Amino acid sequence: MSFGPAVTKPVAAQGLTAALMAAAAAMFSLFGAAPGHGQGGVTDQMQAERGQQLAAVWCGNCHLVGPAQEGAMRTEAPAFEDIADRPNQSVEALERFLVHPHPPMPDLALSRAQMRELALYIMSLRRAGAGG
Ligand code: HEC
Repeated sequence: MSFGPAVTKPVAAQGLTAALMAAAAAMFSLFGAAPGHGQGGVTDQMQAERGQQLAAVWCGNCHLVGPAQEGAMRTEAPAFEDIADRPNQSVEALERFLVHPHPPMPDLALSRAQMRELALYIMSLRRAGAGG
């Protein structure tokens, strides 16, 4: 008799940490078992890690895209951490925002999957005690 793979990976050793796990858990509790969610064992954490890479390449010119990013340019673009910390901020709201390019951001023609990855990554930066 099998109870399935109750794999407990040492996620704390990976780049994204407990904050993301908490955010992902909150997402699941908020939106329940959304059908079609997570195809083929792709977890929110895996998507957020891809989002982190996308952000570094496409968003880092203007935004502070990570915690304590060094040497980042200061522009009028809000830091991703601050965006994540806003009250009522959510993965869904960020996805909706990313559907349209925001000047001066060039139209990057993001795919839906990339929008979700970026949104999950941004929300993973939310600091403990942030509103919402
Ligand atoms: C050329 C500079 C530039 C690039 C590149 C850029 N942004 Fe922005 N972004 C801005 C500026 C400026 C603002 C603030 C003005 C605004 O909200 O429209 C902003 C605002 C935002 C906001 C918050 C809007 C709000 O206030 O609620 C999000 C979310 C965001 N950007 C996501 C991204 C993502 C994800 C990427 C990469 C795919 C990206 N941006 C790339 C300049 C940029």
